[in-house]
Amino acid sequence: MKIVTLVGSLRKDSLNRNIAKALLALAPKSLDLKLIEIGNLPLFNDDLDGDHAPEAWTHFRKQIQACDGVLFVTPEYNRSVPGCLKNAIDVGSRPYGKSVWSGKPAAIISASPGATGGFGANHHLRQSLVFLDMPTMQQPEAYLGHAGDLLGPDGTLTNEKTRAFLINFIDSYAFWVAKLRDNNA
Ligand code: FNR
Repeated sequence: MKIVTLVGSLRKDSLNRNIAKALLALAPKSLDLKLIEIGNLPLFNDDLDGDHAPEAWTHFRKQIQACDGVLFVTPEYNRSVPGCLKNAIDVGSRPYGKSVWSGKPAAIISASPGATGGFGANHHLRQSLVFLDMPTMQQPEAYLGHAGDLLGPDGTLTNEKTRAFLINFIDSYAFWVAKLRDNNA
């Protein structure tokens, strides 16, 4: 199953990006996780859409259309979803009636150096996914607090409990996506 991974941070040394990278290695064989960049997407503007939409939008929409699910790994900005990720969501949701998100099973991991693990962003994102008709895995939830302490200086995952937690998370997601697929077959 092809799973697109979207990271809500554009930073090179992003904690969330490094957690997403760790997940690529921890995912079971049934999942083909691919990290897709969203920093190149022009800000959504309805005036630019239609037959002459920016190439980056069209390419992004095709990548989402072709996938079997979407994994979001995001920080929290001002208790909400970072603008780059919200922009990607908006781009994929248009033109009206042609959203590429509909029906794609999603899962969310939020991570923050703070104690609350991006809970606000995680749940604001869930609100958008309800509207976009993306079934979203309920359990396990993933709010990774003090995320700076979970990774080494080179950005690799060093915390064994977190590794075990992430393996369980991504295995649960794989199981759930396959179940949804089989139910819809
Ligand atoms: C933050 N940060 C932050 N952290 C948090 O737990 N709750 C919040 O509401 C915010 N708000 C916020 C706003 C803005 C504009 C920035 C730049 C940062 C801190 C944030 O969690 C921290 O910078 C993370 O390291 C960002 O994630 P990445 O880039 O490391 O993945």
